[in-house]
Amino acid sequence: MRLPVSHRSTLFTESVIREMTRLCQQHGGVNLAQGFPDFPAPEAIKQEAARAVEADVNQYAITWGARRLREALAEKTRRFTGIAYDPETEITVCCGSTECMAATMLALVDPGEEVVVFEPFYENYGPDAILCGAQPRFVRLREPDWSFDPQELEQSFNNRTKAIIINTPNNPTGKVFTRAELEQIAALCRRWDAVAVTDEIYEHIVYDGAEHVSVASLDGMRERTVTISGISKTYSVTGWRIGHCLAPPPITGAIRKVHDFLTVGAPAPLQEAAAVAMAFPDAYYQRLADGYRERRDFLVPALEGAGFKAFKPRGAYYVMTDISGFGFPDDVEFARYLVADIGVAAVPGSSFYSDRVSGRQRLRFHFARRRETLEAAVQRLGRLGVRASTS
Ligand SMILES: Cc1ncc(COP(=O)(O)O)c(C=O)c1O
Repeated sequence: MRLPVSHRSTLFTESVIREMTRLCQQHGGVNLAQGFPDFPAPEAIKQEAARAVEADVNQYAITWGARRLREALAEKTRRFTGIAYDPETEITVCCGSTECMAATMLALVDPGEEVVVFEPFYENYGPDAILCGAQPRFVRLREPDWSFDPQELEQSFNNRTKAIIINTPNNPTGKVFTRAELEQIAALCRRWDAVAVTDEIYEHIVYDGAEHVSVASLDGMRERTVTISGISKTYSVTGWRIGHCLAPPPITGAIRKVHDFLTVGAPAPLQEAAAVAMAFPDAYYQRLADGYRERRDFLVPALEGAGFKAFKPRGAYYVMTDISGFGFPDDVEFARYLVADIGVAAVPGSSFYSDRVSGRQRLRFHFARRRETLEAAVQRLGRLGVRASTS
């Protein structure tokens, strides 16, 4: 009998992160797996969303995004990066950065072309590459600082390379790519005529004086960069599903076509509220980063105290850990034990690697949680110490 599903859909598994969330609910655990905040979104945007629904902004917005939001995005981008984008021809609003990435890949890449991906990688990039038939070429980010070998990067480019996916600040490692590293990547993009697809969704969450450098701001890169971001993380509204792509007109034209036939458009009333968020003052972003720094500085030492080796993040809200101290052969087994017996959900490291073996002794936690939630998680992790020393 013929398979009832496409071959393509069999090439990747269900998201491990979302599976961990379900297991966590089943066991009544503290969820430090799927990265979404458990604290409220800013009042001003909730009010604007409610107002927009009441005012009957309830029909399709323009497929590539409500004008008000595109104009607000252009203004905010100019304010933070100095780069001017034309809202009419260079900005597309999608259903989250997730759709932005899928639409961009489908718009850019032909089957058989290569896409360079740093690993460990945010788990969506693998299926995104498969869905458009791309051949991923992985370049390793190495602990403790998650730097890459420039030679390995250089060797991953060739005349079949269509694009490179960059994610800075990075999930799952917390790495913030330095200007010098991004310059190396940019030089290779120019040399091989490749497009930089850069997921900058954690752009406002950086610590310890680290500088977020937008790839499109580098010499000669504006014309060959698709910058992807969204409101999920910066404004604590992961359920709203609003993201955007900034790209030169020919690329934007292709992204808009793909986006239109994938989803038609992002939620209209929530686009109105997102426009309000774009005008938040600098102090909002400072408070956001400070809040996450405090959470990081609480969780990282607590994880170390519980027996993990933690790689301290410089951006985003995740911490990758080494679990070799616990003597489990496998990260998935350990993650299942952690959620079922200890009551804390985290993500097995292997879900961020193309060869799962590389992540076997890694586990990722996130800290987009209220202090009391983190305290409850840490208290539970205390039991791990007892188990580790008695077994
Ligand atoms: C690197 C990265 N990109 C994209 C997303 C998803 O963003 P959105 O909610 O805008 O689809 C996430 C969420 O965890 C992420 O970590």
